[in-house]
Amino acid sequence: MRSLSLAFAGTLGLASAASAEVTFDDVLPLLQRHCQECHRPGQIAPMSFLTYEETRPWAESIQENVASRTMPPWHADSHNGELKNDRSLSQAEIETFIAWVDSGAVRGTKNETAASAEPVGWAIGEPDVVLTMQEEYEIAAEGTDEYIYFAIPTNLAEDRYVKAVEVRPGNRSVVHHVLAYVQPGGTGVVSRSSEAANEDLAFPLFFNAGEALRVLPEAPVHDDGCTLPDGGSATPMDMTEGSIRLISTFAPGSRGDLYPEGLGKLVPKDSEILFQVHYNKTGRLERDKTSIALVFTDEPPSKIVEAYWVSNYYFRIPPGTAAHEVKGCYVFDRDVDILSYFPHMHVRGKDMKIEAVYPGGGTEVLLSVPRWDFNWQTTYWLETPKRVPAGTRIVVTAHYDNSKWNPFNPDPTAAVRWGDPTSDEMMIGGLDFVAVSGATNE
Ligand code: HEC
Repeated sequence: MRSLSLAFAGTLGLASAASAEVTFDDVLPLLQRHCQECHRPGQIAPMSFLTYEETRPWAESIQENVASRTMPPWHADSHNGELKNDRSLSQAEIETFIAWVDSGAVRGTKNETAASAEPVGWAIGEPDVVLTMQEEYEIAAEGTDEYIYFAIPTNLAEDRYVKAVEVRPGNRSVVHHVLAYVQPGGTGVVSRSSEAANEDLAFPLFFNAGEALRVLPEAPVHDDGCTLPDGGSATPMDMTEGSIRLISTFAPGSRGDLYPEGLGKLVPKDSEILFQVHYNKTGRLERDKTSIALVFTDEPPSKIVEAYWVSNYYFRIPPGTAAHEVKGCYVFDRDVDILSYFPHMHVRGKDMKIEAVYPGGGTEVLLSVPRWDFNWQTTYWLETPKRVPAGTRIVVTAHYDNSKWNPFNPDPTAAVRWGDPTSDEMMIGGLDFVAVSGATNE
């Protein structure tokens, strides 16, 4: 086998005797573990890597994409504590791919084995309720990506708490990501009104553009939200009238959200699930009916999972700027255990960092996303919850590229403010956490 590999590699002029022993046998387990969840028929990636025959034509491109860490898609680099859903490759794994391609991308001795198992059933176990889009949605073969909202009534007669949630696309080849919200009351799709949003504010901040909520162009500008009188602008995702709250997300590779024992998230009676689904196009007419599965706690949980959005509604991104900085802050008045991070921006987003500034001094980076990619709305789940004491200031720092060099920028001549439409911007450092009742510190 060794001499065969060398001969094959030699014809490509790429041979290096040291790496000649790396064959598809070494690469296949890495493909199964890190790639095939997307690179298989019916999944989101346009090419399949189940077999040597399918993979070999892409060898050079695979080398390039893994070496640059473009593939697998994973956007957080430095963080505090291990992330449960980290799909990035280790340096050794990257080197295996590189060595395989450098030595001619040869076949191995084993026959290809079957793909990593398609998840059967729900990853979160047997659900109590599965809620599905009421009508099938038809996605045209061609055109730009679509962002569509769907409301599904829960028909819950009383408040319930979920200990596990999982969003499952009906058609994985078109569903790029899903943001699932809980919306109290039976109000239908995107019911937020600017009157309600402006109610507690000293001056009007929002206006409605159709169904969308946007910040007024003439609203005061504070790019550094940490200097605002309230020291920041975190939005507790409370369940007051009209407010919606993120309950779960789906992006390829999601395995559902399972909260640690004794924890749960509130789903109020008569609430609706609101999906925002990002559809991409496959060149064929496609249909989708996405679902969400809920597992309820039997009793109200000992601790309720809360979600805060550390955000800043007051920024203004000037036209043409390539790295405009926006900050948002929030100071915890309780000791909390942070469970997950959910950074959110739109297409001008460039990078985001979530830091903790401790009351006793010292700053720690909790999560850093150096190359934001709007296409991958990932929730980063901590392996072990991160405890931060009362008085900790969470600082979210984002940069935006509103220059013409940003290929995703719909209009580099626009001054950009907060708004629902993708052509406006957002700035959210989302946190799921529970309060550590009684405890003072570690
Ligand atoms: C979470 C989904 C996902 C995973 C996991 C993933 N890919 Fe991809 N990959 C994609 C998608 C989607 C594309 C199509 C291009 C795009 O939209 O970014 C792609 C494109 C590619 C391409 C073609 C790039 C080009 O130049 O056209 C290569 C090569 C590739 N992936 C290699 C890999 C390898 C190797 C792995 C595992 C180590 C991997 N991918 C894991 C989703 C994924």
